[in-house]
Amino acid sequence: MTLWGGRFDSAPADAMAALSRSVHFDWRLAPYEIEVNRIHLKNLVDQGVVSKENGKKIESALLDLAKDIGSGSFKYTDADEDVHSAIERGLTERCGELGGAIRAGRSRNDLVVTDFKLYLIDHLLEIASQISAMVKVINTQAANNLDVIAPGFTHTQHAQPITFAQELSKHSHALLRDIDRIFDWLKRNSFSPFGAGALAGSSIQPNPEKVAKDLGFSGAMANSIDAVGDRDFVAEALFDLAMLGVHLSKIGEEFVLWSSTEFGWVKIADAYSTGSSIMPQKKNADIAELARGKSGRFIGNLTSLLVVLKGLPFAYNRDLQEDKEPVFDSIDQLLILLPAITGMIETAQFNSAAISKGAADGFSLATEIADFLAKKQIPFATAHEVAGECVKFCEKNGIELDQLSDAQLIAIHPALTGEVKVFLNVQGAVASRTSSMGTSQKSVTAALSQLKKEISAVDEVIANQRKRLSGMI
Ligand code: ARG
Repeated sequence: MTLWGGRFDSAPADAMAALSRSVHFDWRLAPYEIEVNRIHLKNLVDQGVVSKENGKKIESALLDLAKDIGSGSFKYTDADEDVHSAIERGLTERCGELGGAIRAGRSRNDLVVTDFKLYLIDHLLEIASQISAMVKVINTQAANNLDVIAPGFTHTQHAQPITFAQELSKHSHALLRDIDRIFDWLKRNSFSPFGAGALAGSSIQPNPEKVAKDLGFSGAMANSIDAVGDRDFVAEALFDLAMLGVHLSKIGEEFVLWSSTEFGWVKIADAYSTGSSIMPQKKNADIAELARGKSGRFIGNLTSLLVVLKGLPFAYNRDLQEDKEPVFDSIDQLLILLPAITGMIETAQFNSAAISKGAADGFSLATEIADFLAKKQIPFATAHEVAGECVKFCEKNGIELDQLSDAQLIAIHPALTGEVKVFLNVQGAVASRTSSMGTSQKSVTAALSQLKKEISAVDEVIANQRKRLSGMI
């Protein structure tokens, strides 16, 4: 069924109908549309556009339809153009011509964007709660690895020793920012476009603020043309999801590297590994590679929407129908990816001996020499140079920094006394970095307990937002 046609002499050509049709992907908006219809109907009765008696009949048809959609006994057909046409058909099948009354005072232009916003609020909250679950398992693994000292890398080269707990928990901070972005999205975008009609507002819809509140939004949008044309909230959501995808890809890359035979830092549990069809001995980290690979489509989805929006005249244009599939794809993929990666991290076995083995390799303690001299008021540029000379000397003579004799040290620089050797061990180097963001066990322990507080605050916000939403849908 289509919701138009009175002024047309012929039915749409099959090719036209196929192009126009969106019901096969926008059908998932049906539960949100039912709720919008329920609130809208109340408003139509309040306005006297629908009598109380008819309002009751339509409402009970709407409830029946909701039940039938839930049980799967009402389905869209090939003839339905979109979710809106399918639902109106379902309604008229249940209460006759009266079903068509629901269309007063609104347009598909404001309806579709209202449904879509409700869908996004609902699903972004689900994504946030899945991220929170991941942060919790990362934090547990980090807490179990507070005493493990690892080589820290920059440019994938040994840089400085770090606690492995800090290496793991850095992901928690990035993921918490992803949740924070979702909260920020909710704050800015929980405003209802309903009541904008096609673009100019509606005389039958004089109080969009009230409808917005009844729908559970924070308020109504201020300008009806903006309300039907705005897709900033879609682009923002796709960015937030792409950023999350990029974070997951970085986790994936680490697990690929760390699970290689050469590293041997982590064993991914069998339940989260895959094999090879030809090489029976193989155990592959496909899960981590998929985390890395899927980020491509999240970024692509954001890009495709921005290209649709660029240069579009304001108000509603049919191009905007292209806004939904990228979002559905990013959300669907993330809802598959997040629990898989959480499970992989939760069941991963870290090999502390392999991790700490190389912590002092690559002269990773050279900065300690420079810092020792800087604390003796030697200008850092000189101190850096001196430490570099120590590395050169050791490399030439095939020894490590802590094997330099007192005489050799003093010969390189008069301020470089044997006391420096206290700092030339990975434990000392790590323990000395006690600032709040530093790598010492003390700092990382404090950071982990702060993370714990933040994540329970996050869980509370998600629970409260969901309560608000349960009034909406
Ligand atoms: N299916 C459209 C969309 O997803 C909504 C329909 C609006 N159609 C129209 N001709 N104004 O954006």
